[in-house]
Amino acid sequence: MSDKLPFEFFLSPEFGADPYAVYAGLRAEGPVHAIDFPPGASAFVVVDYEHARPALNDPRLSKNLASGPEWFREAISQQNPVLGDNMLMSDPPDHTRLRRVVSKAFTPRRIERLRPRVQAITDELIDAFEGDTVELIDAFAFPLPIIVICELLGVPDRDRADFRRWSGALVTPAVNEELARSRDEASDALRAYFTRLIAERRAAPTDDLVSVLVTSDELSEREVLSTLALLLIAGHETTVNLIGNGMLALLRNPDQLDLLRAKPELLPNAIEEFLRYDAPVERATFRIALEDMEIAGTPIPKGSFVHISIGAAGRDPKAFDRAESLDVAREDNRHVGFGHGLHFCLGAPLARMEGQIAFGSLLARLGDIRLACPEEQLSWRFSGSILRSLAALPIAI
Ligand code: HEM
Repeated sequence: MSDKLPFEFFLSPEFGADPYAVYAGLRAEGPVHAIDFPPGASAFVVVDYEHARPALNDPRLSKNLASGPEWFREAISQQNPVLGDNMLMSDPPDHTRLRRVVSKAFTPRRIERLRPRVQAITDELIDAFEGDTVELIDAFAFPLPIIVICELLGVPDRDRADFRRWSGALVTPAVNEELARSRDEASDALRAYFTRLIAERRAAPTDDLVSVLVTSDELSEREVLSTLALLLIAGHETTVNLIGNGMLALLRNPDQLDLLRAKPELLPNAIEEFLRYDAPVERATFRIALEDMEIAGTPIPKGSFVHISIGAAGRDPKAFDRAESLDVAREDNRHVGFGHGLHFCLGAPLARMEGQIAFGSLLARLGDIRLACPEEQLSWRFSGSILRSLAALPIAI
C-alpha cells in the first residue's frame, strides 16, 4: 500500500467486506494515517480508541465546513446547502444554540411516550412478513425508523418512499457526475418539501417537532430546514444499520443469538455491543484542523481533514477485551458508536429504544433464523463512507 491510502479504496467492495482487517493492519503500524480523502487534500484517519475518543471532542477540530481550505469552501458554496446549517456541521456558539432548540423538543419524556407506538409499528411490520424468507432491510430495518422519525417530526409517512430516496442520494458519496446530479436533485426536492411544510406549520402550528422548530425565534429559516433534513436523515439512515449489522452479527454468531433469545434481559447490553462490534456510523463526520496540531505524534497541518473511525476504535484490543468477538453480555462497554462529547448523538435514547424493541420482538416472534444467502452474496450499500450499511439481508424464518 502507498504512503497515502487512496480515496477509492474506502469505497471498494474489498474494504466493505472486512474493514476491520484493514483497520487492524493500519493500527499495527500506528494510530494515525494519511489518506487521500477528499482527493488531493491533506487528510488523515485515526484508527485507535485512545486517540479517536478525545479527537471526537477536540475543539481544535472544527465541524464547520467553512473552516476548510479555500478550494473546499468554494466547492461547497456551489452545492445546495440543505445539510450545511445544522448542529452536526457547526461549532460553538452556533452549535450550542442549534442543539438547545432541538433538545427542548427531544426530551427523554417525549421519546419515552413513543414506546407503545414503536412497539405497535414493530408488531405490524413483523405481522406482514410472508413466506419463509424475509429481506430484513426492506421489510423491517428501513421502515421502522423512518415511520418513527416521520411521526416524531410530524411529516406524513405516506411520503416516506420519497424520503428514503432523497436521503439515500444525499448520503451517497458523489464520486461521479451522475451521483452528484442525483444528490443535487434530492437536495432540491427535500428543500422544496420542507419549505412547504414550514410555511404550513407557521400558519397553523401543531404539537409536532416541525412546529417546535418553526415557532422558535432562535433559528433562521435555513437553519430550520437544515435541522429537519439532519433529523430525517440521522433518524433513519443510522438505525437501519443498527438493526441490519446487529442481526448479521447474531446470524454469524449463533451461540450469541441463542444466549440473547434465552436471556432477553441482556438486550440493553446487546444493543451497546452491536454499536461497538459493527458500528452503524462507521466513521464520524469529518473534522477540519483549525491550527497546526499533532495527534499521536503525527503532525496535522491547519486545514487538514481528520476522519475518526468509530468502527476501528470499537475493535481496538487495547480498549476492549476480546475486541474481535461479539459478546452480547459485555459490560462496561465504553464504545463510541454514538460519538463522544459535544456532538454526542442527540437521538441515542430513541435509537436505543428502537433497537431494543426491534431485537426483542424479532427474536421472540421468529423461530429459528439463519442467513438465507451465501455469505459471499452479501453486499454493502455503504461501508467506508461514514455509514456502514448492508444492501440487503435475506433471512430464513
Ligand atoms: C450525531 C450515531 C441515531 C440524531 C451522531 C454522531 C454519531 C451518531 C456517531 C456524532 C457524529 C460526529 O461526531 O461527527 C448514531 C447511531 C444511531 C443514531 C449509531 C443509531 C443507531 C440517531 C437518531 C437521531 C439522531 C435516531 C434523531 C432522530 C443525531 C443528531 C446528531 C447526531 C441530531 C448531531 C448531534 C450534534 O452535532 O450535537 N449520531 N445516531 N441520531 N445524531 Fe445520531
